[in-house]
Amino acid sequence: MEKERYWTWSINYTKIYYKMDILQRIKESTDFISNKFNGKRPLIGIVLGSGLGELAEKIEEKIIIPYSEIPHFATSTAIGHKGNLIFGRLGGKNVVAMQGRFHYYEGYAMDQVTLPIRVMKMLGISYLFVSNAAGGVNVSFKVGDLMIIRDHINLMPNPLIGKNLDEFGPRFPDMTRPYDLNLINRAENIAAKLGISLKKGVYLAGTGPTYETPAEYGYFRGIGADAVGMSTVPEVIVARHSSIPVFGVSVITNEAFSFSDDYVNDGDDVVIAANKAADKMTKLFISLISEL
Ligand code: HPA
Repeated sequence: MEKERYWTWSINYTKIYYKMDILQRIKESTDFISNKFNGKRPLIGIVLGSGLGELAEKIEEKIIIPYSEIPHFATSTAIGHKGNLIFGRLGGKNVVAMQGRFHYYEGYAMDQVTLPIRVMKMLGISYLFVSNAAGGVNVSFKVGDLMIIRDHINLMPNPLIGKNLDEFGPRFPDMTRPYDLNLINRAENIAAKLGISLKKGVYLAGTGPTYETPAEYGYFRGIGADAVGMSTVPEVIVARHSSIPVFGVSVITNEAFSFSDDYVNDGDDVVIAANKAADKMTKLFISLISEL
């Protein structure tokens, strides 16, 4: 009986901590970071996915804060994710970059997964750039391809479930244009000039951490997905809730449509494949940022 009472108390306490205190937590994280960044305002927020941290090396006049030092930030446990928040100059603009993100499959609540996006909003970003490693379910995709995300299918819990944060946006946000058409057009023009070939498609987000079965990959293709991954959509939903224009790119790290007898999906291979394509993505992001 005592044990049961303890658990009820503990669950209620957790609910109160996560639901009622979120604005306070966002504010405390923001104040801490803003202080470390000497009050400088970033124009663009960037989330770097698995194996895509290379872009961070190109940031100049860097101020690096490990997530472990930031109040209320979770820690990155995923492979290929470093766990630093970096402020600096990229393409002539002030940026704040997440070198590694938080995933739902790591066991974090959705408001922890998306806290950094709300913090970036408070820091003053006008654009959010997101990236991820993804499995290609479109049969024309090859490992190493870059896919501009033009739309998504969310099969994770929605991060906006719970009391609405009216300070950030409306109860029922529009999702007609989750990815900014102007940014997509500009990126396509830049890629043509740089000789980078781009795919464009729909990203489907599942919870993970298992990779999909062949039947699931087939199902996702059937419902309109071109690529599948375990991230990004919670951040995009939270960004769109507060009207931040989003640009997103998936790096195709595995061809999820033909499975030979010895085929296996492996997290290390995903990071290696993402690393190889990171250079192309970095060039595209920097050129687009320099135009903003
Ligand atoms: N499925 C889910 N997530 C992924 C994949 C995949 O095939 N590849 C890289 N991230």
